[in-house]
Amino acid sequence: MKGESSRERFDVLLPCHIAIIMDGNGRWARVRNLPRAVGHRAGMKTLQEIVRHASNLGLQWLTLYAFSSENWLRPVDEVEYLLSLLKSFIRCDLVDLHKNNVKIHIIGERDDLAEDIVSLFYEAETLTLSNTGLNLVVAFNYGGRNEIVRAVRKIAEHITSGRIKDDDIDDPLVASYLDTALMPDPDLIIRTSGEMRLSNFLLWQAAYSELSFVPCLWPDFSTVDFDMAIAGFCQRERRFGALEEEQMRGMIL
Ligand code: IPE
Ligand code: IPE
Ligand code: MG
Repeated sequence: MKGESSRERFDVLLPCHIAIIMDGNGRWARVRNLPRAVGHRAGMKTLQEIVRHASNLGLQWLTLYAFSSENWLRPVDEVEYLLSLLKSFIRCDLVDLHKNNVKIHIIGERDDLAEDIVSLFYEAETLTLSNTGLNLVVAFNYGGRNEIVRAVRKIAEHITSGRIKDDDIDDPLVASYLDTALMPDPDLIIRTSGEMRLSNFLLWQAAYSELSFVPCLWPDFSTVDFDMAIAGFCQRERRFGALEEEQMRGMIL
């Protein structure tokens, strides 16, 4: 089985957290002379396949950028279609995800979202709360700047109310006010479609993430591409601002 053999290959080196900017649905449709909606529907199939694969591999965290805080700027019809796809994904796949021990988390601003979406998010998170398999994080109405602004506002409120002091502010405290509090930072961020930018995704959390920009459009992204991105990650040398261990040992000042 594909999942099994991949698991064996990556047993030791599987990153803890992979995040994906699923980009290129519109272009996938355009080259086929199809409406953008068809590209989004094809993209949803890829999403389902990648989630299943990540879960089979034994990955601990998978974050998917589903809808950015800027995607509201798109035509109303497209926005409505994307919302309806997300709703049907939760409605149709929730039971299966739950059976597969997947724990769902949603990040992004919920304040101005329609009630039906917010209650679906609540249902998905509550039902899967005690699951111990793949942590699936869906970034919806998510923007890194918006997340940081909301965190700063909360910190200011808590200083005013005396719950924290300004001296308490440090890296871990700020991280604990973000939507991703208690989640590990992504080790690897994959973006499909050849674009080489973050588009407001996980700005704080990506400080030391490895980035993998793959040329294929999201609907064409396969489990093999996913495995190849992991294999590429395994070749990277992560230093976090320090030096390699070997260099540290042999260092002559
Ligand atoms: C990604 O595909 C889906 C979302 C942003 C919601 P796009 O819709 O951005 O596709 P392109 O970039 O126009 O090809
Ligand atoms: C980023 O893709 C958002 C998601 C994948 C949900 P976009 O297509 O919106 O990003 P830009 O506009 O090309 O930067
Ligand atoms: Mg795009």
